[in-house]
Amino acid sequence: MSNALSMIDDTSDSLDADLNYLVPNGRRPVYYAFPAPPGIPHHSGEFETKRVRIQDGRRQPERPTLDSTGFELVHEGSRLSDFSDDATVRRVYYPEVDALIKRVMGAVKVVIFDHTLRYGVRGHIEEGVREPATRVHNDQTFVSGPRRVRDHLPAEEAAQRLEGRFAIINVWRPIGHPVEASPLAMCDARSIDPADLVPSDLVYRDKVGETYAFRYNPRHRWSYFPRVRPDEVVLLKIYDSLDDGRARLTAHTAFEDPRAPASARPRRSIEVRSLVFF
Ligand code: OGA
Ligand code: FE
Repeated sequence: MSNALSMIDDTSDSLDADLNYLVPNGRRPVYYAFPAPPGIPHHSGEFETKRVRIQDGRRQPERPTLDSTGFELVHEGSRLSDFSDDATVRRVYYPEVDALIKRVMGAVKVVIFDHTLRYGVRGHIEEGVREPATRVHNDQTFVSGPRRVRDHLPAEEAAQRLEGRFAIINVWRPIGHPVEASPLAMCDARSIDPADLVPSDLVYRDKVGETYAFRYNPRHRWSYFPRVRPDEVVLLKIYDSLDDGRARLTAHTAFEDPRAPASARPRRSIEVRSLVFF
């Protein structure tokens, strides 16, 4: 083929895209989860863009799973298609997510502690709606993971649950149409070195959370699931108390898909965050 279209090989099982990594400078990166007070930058820390190869997770010989790579695609619809009403999401969607996690992971108890709506239009202002994430991160750290249990359970139950295995899982779902722009990339947990993790402050109005930023490591193996549909979810491992060789977290970020046409619809999605007990 000699036409321009041959430049875009849609049958390829990988693409190259730019991801934003932290350049560690010895200081702790800080982000604000709300508009920062006057004079305070919304975030601190220097980032660098790295071109990485991102594999098609649908076509990998070894299917990605929560315990191997730290992420997993599951075919699972929802009764809900409009996730804009907070109360409805809690009443209808949270129980669906609860049941899904119990089924997939064999968990005995699930506590959903929040959810985030995203819309991929720069500068879009809508209460409670965020843009796709632009930096490689993991939502919790080995310190803040257990703290979440103490934040959301009565002290006695928290202490007892922390004796056993627990995990933090995000359930990520496109809203409205399959993902055409700003897909989510996930990093194989087995390609992450502990030295890549940089604890960062996430400042909320009422507390300070801790997340991991990541420094670049050429060994990172990235994947994405092309055109995730509203009847599919991506499960992300954010934390696992077990340290037995299984995935304990996964770096992830949205990226600009170089193959997305100009007519691609902006991505809408919802991610639900949960504590999972076994
Ligand atoms: C997440 C997350 C980013 C995005 O689900 O934890 O970071 O752009 N999502 O959807
Ligand atoms: Fe995240």
